[in-house]
Amino acid sequence: MPFLRVKIRTRDPQGVLSRLLAGGEPPLTSDFLPEEDLLLLVYPAEGLHERLRRLARLLPREDFEETELAESPELEERTFEVGPLVFRAVWRSRPVSSGEIFLKANLSFGSGRHATTLLCLRTLVRLAEKGPLGRVFDLGCGSGILALAAARLGAPQVLAVDIDLRAVREARHNVEMNALGERVLVVKGSLSAARPRSFDLVLANLTIGTILALAPEIPQVLRPGGMAVLSGFGPPQEEALRARLPKALVLGREVLEGWEALILGF
Ligand SMILES: C[S@@+](CC[C@H](N)C(=O)[O-])C[C@H]1O[C@@H](n2cnc3c(N)ncnc32)[C@H](O)[C@@H]1O
Repeated sequence: MPFLRVKIRTRDPQGVLSRLLAGGEPPLTSDFLPEEDLLLLVYPAEGLHERLRRLARLLPREDFEETELAESPELEERTFEVGPLVFRAVWRSRPVSSGEIFLKANLSFGSGRHATTLLCLRTLVRLAEKGPLGRVFDLGCGSGILALAAARLGAPQVLAVDIDLRAVREARHNVEMNALGERVLVVKGSLSAARPRSFDLVLANLTIGTILALAPEIPQVLRPGGMAVLSGFGPPQEEALRARLPKALVLGREVLEGWEALILGF
């Protein structure tokens, strides 16, 4: 690992760089991401602890978001694939590519790779292979990854909601970056944002408490014959969940790393 990357949250990148230069700690490279207020500094990895101590002394009030060791001075743009979908975590907006789905890279890029997200994505791909997805409601959209996937798999209209404003902003940014604004609408809110009986498919990857609480109302937003893909729980909790949806038919289930996705028909 020959490089040390330091990520500093700041609105004054020039000021930070000047203090580093004056203090004898010029980075090998620096890059500022204005959308994130993030200054990325690269140093050689040798003398790591001493260097971090010196940086902390030179920048006592700065917010050190992350430090990491890396093989390359460049930020990697990590990708992963699910069926025909290729996801790429990018640091900057770039021209839309029909072959890829861009997601704003966050520092850990964890969300898109969680088992429950993967289960929902795989299920979505399988459903799209069987027939048109129709109108999709993404309940608890986070970064918007499932909504974007549904749109790319042909859903003509997708409503994505989240109660967390940061998630809503991130999802909107991702929708814009993929030029899918005509088909994907992101709204702050929850189930009540959806008109009754207006969706063919609900995607709900939530925590078990939330899914149990919201489950009884999910059928109300579905058209007759609609489906729901539920995730965010494990096989031991399936029974409790199904007890909340006594009229639902189990159309399929998939398990990964102790997590489950359940496809229900109504
Ligand atoms: C596990 S994340 C899933 C994110 C994304 N859909 C995915 O599959 O990776 C759950 C999301 O649901 C949101 N959430 C939690 N409770 C909610 C509620 N009652 N209504 C809408 N969104 C909710 C959270 O803010 C979070 O962004």
